[in-house]
Amino acid sequence: MSIDIELIRRSWSLVEPAAAKVAAHFYGKLFADHPGVRELFPPAMGDQRDRLLGALTRVVLNLEAGPGLVDYLGQLARDHRKYGVRPEHYPAVGACLIAAMRANAAGSWRPEYSEAWAEAYQTIADVMIKAAAQDEAGAPASWIGTVVAHEMRTPEIVVFTVQADYPYPYRAGQYATLQTPHWPKIWRSYSIANAPRADNTLTFHVRVVPGGWVSTALARHLRVGDSLLVGPPRGSLVLERATSPHVVLIAGGTGLAPLKAIVQESVSLPDRPLMDLFHGVRHDADAYDEADLMDLRNRHGRLRVVHAVSHDHYRGETVIDAVERHRVYLDGDVFVCGSTDMVRETTDRLLRMGVSAGRIHTEFSPDTPISVGV
Ligand SMILES: Cc1cc2nc3c(=O)[nH]c(=O)nc-3n(C[C@H](O)[C@H](O)[C@H](O)COP(=O)(O)OP(=O)(O)OC[C@H]3O[C@@H](n4cnc5c(N)ncnc54)[C@H](O)[C@@H]3O)c2cc1C
Ligand code: HEM
Repeated sequence: MSIDIELIRRSWSLVEPAAAKVAAHFYGKLFADHPGVRELFPPAMGDQRDRLLGALTRVVLNLEAGPGLVDYLGQLARDHRKYGVRPEHYPAVGACLIAAMRANAAGSWRPEYSEAWAEAYQTIADVMIKAAAQDEAGAPASWIGTVVAHEMRTPEIVVFTVQADYPYPYRAGQYATLQTPHWPKIWRSYSIANAPRADNTLTFHVRVVPGGWVSTALARHLRVGDSLLVGPPRGSLVLERATSPHVVLIAGGTGLAPLKAIVQESVSLPDRPLMDLFHGVRHDADAYDEADLMDLRNRHGRLRVVHAVSHDHYRGETVIDAVERHRVYLDGDVFVCGSTDMVRETTDRLLRMGVSAGRIHTEFSPDTPISVGV
């Protein structure tokens, strides 16, 4: 893939200060020139109006050809089928993107900038269109998940299970996007908390974000028997990334979900690694999955589970404090999952404790070819 990334980054720095205007121009032109495209987007776009544009520019700006690039774009393309995106939409989006940047560069835009963006966009679009076409032959654009279990484990955390209407091919550690009937066309990402099961059921752990649209609907309004839409699997936080015989898994809150799935998957491996799973919560009462984790520990045989409680005065410690206090031997791979802040702080501490960056695995690791925090 020969993309002049430097020219792209230089030209983007011209328009970045006016990013909000670029977004307004982009959507205005896209919806005026191609009115049919409007219905692909959420009815109320409000503050999030630049969700596609922001993500798209981040993808282009962070492009570095690498072994994972085609895989990442393939996942993105499969995921775009759920929006109703068709091959004929790609030229429209590309043309409006370049027109919006040109119009907001205060007269400094040069033809070679347009050429560089057009080339990068076309290269990406070609990969995505091809991947979507291949996917169409064998998989639905999205799955219908029927809720078969729904349990509030704490006042803020729900654990629920849906049964997908078709086989849902994913790897333990990946995440899915969900859309509830309460918020049409609004998709949010949630990690799948179990290794693949024969009955196509998927379990999710969701914490209610105050004022959050989808998390509130999933926790407070969803009932057994209801349906929701499940987008295709995404993500690269999978056990194959680990090569060592000892794996440490560090979870913050519902960041437990994908790490639990990874541990579950390892149970069936004859040469499963020795595993230390640390689960950080604020209060004792937030340890919402203790019974399941004890059961998993018994079945695994080579798993240790430790809870770290940060906000109870008598023994407050963060999850990475607990790793340090238990003098865990950090000689192998380490998986980290939780909020953005928790992942950043834990990763920094691990690096200071001497773990090499290549051994620290997160959903958006620096070692993955593209990092887009969407
Ligand atoms: C790869 C990935 C996997 C994820 N897996 C899970 C998971 O397994 N379980 C889970 O509960 N969540 C998970 N999330 C977060 C989830 O996708 C949503 O962002 C979250 O549920 C909030 O969505 P919402 O629609 O309820 O809130 P929104 O309506 O999007 O947000 C409402 C308000 O809350 C703010 N806000 C959004 N998220 C947070 C937050 N975490 N803390 C504080 N304020 C916030 C927003 O800025 C906004 O002001 C994951 C995210 C990613 C990217
Ligand atoms: C090079 C091509 C493209 C890239 C790299 C790209 C990338 C992205 C990314 C990263 C997101 C954020 C959510 C996600 O990760 O799924 C997104 C959202 C979206 N994209 Fe694309 N996209 C491309 C082309 C298109 C096209 C041609 C359309 C059709 C109009 C489209 C429609 C959408 C829609 C509807 C959303 C959701 C917006 C929202 O929820 O507000 N995309 N895109």
